[in-house]
Amino acid sequence: MLELQNVHVNYGAAPALWEVSMSIFPKELVCVIGPNGAGKTTLINAIMGLNRTRLGSILWDGEDLTGLPAHRLCERGLALVPEGRRLYGSMSVHENLLLGAVHPKARAKRADTLEWVCELFPVVKAKLNQAAAQLSGGQQQMVAIGRALMALPQLLLLDEPSLGLAPSIVIEMFNVIQTINRGGTSVLLVEQNVSRALAVSERTYVLENGRIVSSGPSDVIASQPEIKKAYLGL
Ligand SMILES: Nc1ncnc2c1ncn2[C@@H]1O[C@H](COP(=O)(O)OP(=O)(O)OP(=O)(O)O)[C@@H](O)[C@H]1O
Ligand SMILES: [Mg+2]
Repeated sequence: MLELQNVHVNYGAAPALWEVSMSIFPKELVCVIGPNGAGKTTLINAIMGLNRTRLGSILWDGEDLTGLPAHRLCERGLALVPEGRRLYGSMSVHENLLLGAVHPKARAKRADTLEWVCELFPVVKAKLNQAAAQLSGGQQQMVAIGRALMALPQLLLLDEPSLGLAPSIVIEMFNVIQTINRGGTSVLLVEQNVSRALAVSERTYVLENGRIVSSGPSDVIASQPEIKKAYLGL
């Protein structure tokens, strides 16, 4: 279980996250929604050790992870699919995937994990030897998710996986995320596609101006008039 207690993050003197407390239980699919610039990427990067936590703690199964670097968190069972995918375009899909399996436990199992990733994403399997840059946006996003899965995470952090994808691919993307979650991996999903994020997740946190302003079961959040108006265009 992941727990954030009163987390504050600054960029220089400017506060970006303020008093953020949240939890993700084993096997849960939790989403974070919020407008542009609310701090969603800052939050997910803080969890992954890419932003310094100025105040507060990040606990994982009761162990204090605050301040640990990303590769240590990866060993502990966290993996990030970053905003914008960040693949190595000139490297093959296969090479990009193997980069996800760097820590010893993941390395030892990488052949089996690769098989699983190829089952999950048949389209990735078909392109293993192509340069990542040659793939479509949707295919690249699948590779980015596959790369994170190669680390055998217990908690998968996804930063706007549907961004810039064609509507048909977006549906496929959310289906895949649900499949991964049903396989037992906890998921923290940051999304601008609010209606889909609310539909697939169990619980939702609403982040505005660096603060959690609302949280609860996703169906309850989806029925709130202010959420309908601000995020669902209803
Ligand atoms: N490296 C940085 N240095 C200074 N300020 C930053 C930095 N990164 C983000 N910010 C600021 O922090 C705030 C939160 O940004 P963040 O990228 O976390 O928002 P977001 O919710 O992910 O937005 P988006 O929906 O556009 O991805 C914004 O005001 C942004 O301008
Ligand atoms: Mg962002």
